[in-house]
Amino acid sequence: MPLKDVDPAEFRQLCGHFATGVVVITALAADGTPAGMTANSFASVSLTPPLISVNVDHANDMNAILRQSKSFAINVLTISQEAISRRFALNMPRRFDGVGYRIEEPGLVFLDGCLATMACLSQGSFEAGDHTIFVGRVVGGNAAQGRPLMYYRGGYVTVGLP
Ligand SMILES: Cc1cc2nc3c(=O)[nH]c(=O)nc-3n(C[C@H](O)[C@H](O)[C@H](O)COP(=O)(O)O)c2cc1C
Repeated sequence: MPLKDVDPAEFRQLCGHFATGVVVITALAADGTPAGMTANSFASVSLTPPLISVNVDHANDMNAILRQSKSFAINVLTISQEAISRRFALNMPRRFDGVGYRIEEPGLVFLDGCLATMACLSQGSFEAGDHTIFVGRVVGGNAAQGRPLMYYRGGYVTVGLP
């Protein structure tokens, strides 16, 4: 096998075979308005201390927001929140219009009706190609019953839990 970079289309195709959950990363922008972005690059990183990571494209607004934010939240979506996933991935103004959410100290934005939420303190970031890896320390959270929204080969799926 030749040792050269796969092209972007092949890379997407290969990575698309890895099924993931879907989260909306939320934070407050510098002007205090809530911001959110759909992501499937969420990963747990460390158990002690409890660390997670998300990878955000340099081109996305959320990248600059997370750089200046001392905290952010992870909202894990249920199968009934596909519209939320689509909404927070679209390039549109006022993404929060009509979306239920609450803001808690110290500036955490939690979406209503999620499968789980995590409150994170910003712990650092690392540059990796055209993305930034943001690491968060999980300082609180909630989990509920339900089926996860999942992403697989460019489409939304779920798993059949009881
Ligand atoms: C299922 C799904 C997963 C995504 N995962 C990521 C991700 O992990 N990182 C990322 O930077 N963008 C990801 N995106 C793309 C962003 O959601 C999209 O570019 C968004 O419009 C960026 O918003 P912003 O510029 O307001 O931050 C994903 C989109 C979808 C539909």
